[in-house]
Amino acid sequence: MKKHHITTTLEVFENTSELTGPIQDLMRKAQQARDKAYAPYSRFNVGAAILLDNGEIVTGNNQENAAFPSGLCAERVAVFYAGAQYPGIPIRALALTVHSESKEIVTPVPPCGACRQSLVEYEVTQKSPIAIYFMGASGKVAKAASVQDLLPLVFDNSFL
Ligand code: THU
Repeated sequence: MKKHHITTTLEVFENTSELTGPIQDLMRKAQQARDKAYAPYSRFNVGAAILLDNGEIVTGNNQENAAFPSGLCAERVAVFYAGAQYPGIPIRALALTVHSESKEIVTPVPPCGACRQSLVEYEVTQKSPIAIYFMGASGKVAKAASVQDLLPLVFDNSFL
């Protein structure tokens, strides 16, 4: 028996002003999308903005439903929109931010497991990493250089 240790690395920025100009802009677009989320049930608004290789930015926010599981997370709204509108254009980065009506969130909130799986599909297919920048409503911003830093032991099409 051998033990395999899996480690991951995140970069943590004190606040958005430490980010590069283009990523600050991306996070601003995510915040604007977040504030238009349809989240009447959880009152937890999430916004995502995706930067494509052609310079386009597409955004998404969570869309909830009275039949709860029929809703969709912000990241998947954004990445599926990118896939639908710009098929084959690589995704460079995704910025993610949240706002909760019930508490102040100042620590970075990472994408949920289902969104990581959805995102990694695009990363594997395009053969280049997608950087994920995530934060709360304010405060620190964490950066994963690749979706696979957030989702080690990935299940992908190589197994099919
Ligand atoms: N949500 C997202 O939009 N992204 C995530 O990564 C985690 C959760 C949404 C789903 C639901 O509308 C609300 O946040 C509370 O779970």
